[in-house]
Amino acid sequence: MSKSDPRAHLRRPRPKEGFDTRAVRTGAAPDYNAGAVVPPIYQTSTFHFPTELSEARNLGEVHLYSRLLNPTTTLAARSLSALEGASTGRVFASGMGALSCAVLSLLRSGDEVVALEDLYGNTVTLLRDVVPKWGIRVTWVPPGDSHLVREHTSGATRLLLMESPTNPTLRVHDIRAWARAAHDVGALLLVDNTFATPVNQNPLALGADLVMHSATKYLSGHSDLIAGALVGNENAVSTATTLADTLGATLDPFAAFLLLRGMKTLGVRVRKQNETAQYLSTRLSEERRIERVHYPGSFSTADERIARAQMRGRGGMLSLSLKGGLRAARAFLRELRLIHPASSLGGVESLASLPVETSHRQLSRAERLARGIDDGLVRISIGIEDRDDILADIQAALRHT
Ligand SMILES: Cc1ncc(COP(=O)(O)O)c(C=O)c1O
Repeated sequence: MSKSDPRAHLRRPRPKEGFDTRAVRTGAAPDYNAGAVVPPIYQTSTFHFPTELSEARNLGEVHLYSRLLNPTTTLAARSLSALEGASTGRVFASGMGALSCAVLSLLRSGDEVVALEDLYGNTVTLLRDVVPKWGIRVTWVPPGDSHLVREHTSGATRLLLMESPTNPTLRVHDIRAWARAAHDVGALLLVDNTFATPVNQNPLALGADLVMHSATKYLSGHSDLIAGALVGNENAVSTATTLADTLGATLDPFAAFLLLRGMKTLGVRVRKQNETAQYLSTRLSEERRIERVHYPGSFSTADERIARAQMRGRGGMLSLSLKGGLRAARAFLRELRLIHPASSLGGVESLASLPVETSHRQLSRAERLARGIDDGLVRISIGIEDRDDILADIQAALRHT
């Protein structure tokens, strides 16, 4: 690109611009060959060897092969980094791909990871069944002990891992306190920010070192791809990237293109989902067939205080504990007409699932109850449909429970 290119100014980073401006513009680096407003998908497995290959200082910056580096996946990582306030990032084949590469590359035999008990089911499986085989110790922090996390660390702790709000009970945990506990022992804090999204919460600004996303969810926003991401601490992202390159946990360029498209509307979607979920959580607390509505801040005054301190909006997820347990929850799901009974979350369409049978089925009943996941719990991902249509669907289905 020549210095005199009249569009060169379009590529300058704009760190101080608002969220939606960054969402639309960072992922839209113009294509200089044809001037396309939407960058093309580099749907290629390989690239012509650059003539200067032998002189390249950093092979990681040379386009050789798409398992290692591809312009479309790079752009997706850059776009998310801009939204999370990170200097660097990488996209992966899935959220679990991102998390597994982070955990397995940052820890070695003899190290300890301190993890909140309240984590996505497969994250629990990774820590419970896989990580110990590498000689890594896992120390669990019960949700009620979250404020005492420092006491659960030791000289061997290298990584702290948490989510907030949690899946599916929507508890809120103090990211600043976890970051302090990590840094006191020279460890890193990794936060799964899937539920909050960068619209509502930026863990890096609260002291976390790494942010992980299941980009399958809100970031893509249309339930049409599987992807993951890791942004933050440069050394850690680079270490996880090397492992991902080796294991092949790389995102396909077409999925990266869809992800880029989804991220442009992230703010617009999530702000509407925040409003609708907040409205529904208030209206549904009046329903006599519901034992409890779970929404960030609703669990206790401490949760509410932390949510106010670290979240800009409360998100589009809410869970309902139905009177009548699993039988009632199954009947509720069967009677829904607008909301799709499906696992996953964060899309434009509302989805409902039973964590007992989907996201947390790998856990024993005792493990689930310890995390507050009762048999009658229904998790709802609020879409962008009209809020009173969603409310009417829930109220009609409740009559059959
Ligand atoms: C909070 C959370 N983290 C991680 C994951 C895993 O992401 P993926 O399914 O993209 O591997 C999920 C998936 O449901 C999730 O809900």
